[in-house]
Amino acid sequence: MKVRKAVIPAAGLGTRMLPATKTVPKEMLPLVDKPVIQYIIEEAVSAGIEDILVVTNRAKSAMDDYFDYYPELEERLGRAGKERELQEVRRAADLANIFYVRQKETKGLGHAIWRAKRFVGDEPFAVLLGDDIMRSDKPVIGQLIDAAEKYAASCVGVQEVSTAAISKYSSVKVEPLGPRTFRVTDMVEKPRPEEIFSHYAILGRYVLRPGIFDILENLKPGYGGEIQLTDGLRELCKQDTMTAVDFEGKRYDTGNLKGFLEATIDFSLDHPETGAWLRDFLKEKASTL
Ligand code: UTP
Repeated sequence: MKVRKAVIPAAGLGTRMLPATKTVPKEMLPLVDKPVIQYIIEEAVSAGIEDILVVTNRAKSAMDDYFDYYPELEERLGRAGKERELQEVRRAADLANIFYVRQKETKGLGHAIWRAKRFVGDEPFAVLLGDDIMRSDKPVIGQLIDAAEKYAASCVGVQEVSTAAISKYSSVKVEPLGPRTFRVTDMVEKPRPEEIFSHYAILGRYVLRPGIFDILENLKPGYGGEIQLTDGLRELCKQDTMTAVDFEGKRYDTGNLKGFLEATIDFSLDHPETGAWLRDFLKEKASTL
């Protein structure tokens, strides 16, 4: 079955980016000239997704304002002949059909995804975490959708990480299935060294079959007292086929300071307005360090 819908959980409190994220959602922090969440929505759209649900909370209404029209601003830009700016402002509002639902209590990623049950209905759907940005030739979520459709299965996006890093992620137990593709038989969230299944970590992209909702609904709080998506996925991979794709692309966690700065530098180096200038600036800076 074709994957037509995506869910972006973006209701986390963003405590690693305080104080900036006290009133500005971390998904709305600008990466060069666009907010983080726009890159994520563009990734979904370029993989053929048309309907997107963003899971928000009471402090995040800046997101729905951003993807709306802004007539006064557009009229002012039009009168001033600022065509490029006008197009960019309009383009954001016309990117996709964007829907919103609130997670009324911050009970964890699994709980946030469960809020998408009504929107998703009975079909497979994509999940893109609201603070994980990918840079790749082919959209990362599209790489997962291909595998999910081919094997009629759920799919998680993975990459190999170091022993030191795996304790921050979910480690998956895998068996080879095809090029860069595995079958997932088990997983563990934030493993201690003796619990590691493999160095393949799940990194911010998923395609899930709707059976996940019944599982999440009955899940008890896990690590950190939150409803953990990994606990739900662990159950799902035992009930139904789950694949993992070792995706091609670079992932940035913009939800922490270093990841955010790394993404800012890499995306600025690629941007036509800032790339050449930043290269010179960095060279000059490096010579003084
Ligand atoms: P993170 O753990 O990266 O986000 O959650 P966080 O909770 O905002 O981070 P810190 O630790 O406080 O800085 C992964 C994803 O799950 C969403 C987040 O918005 C992020 O996209 N999330 C997390 C929810 O939507 N709801 C939650 O209750 C928790």
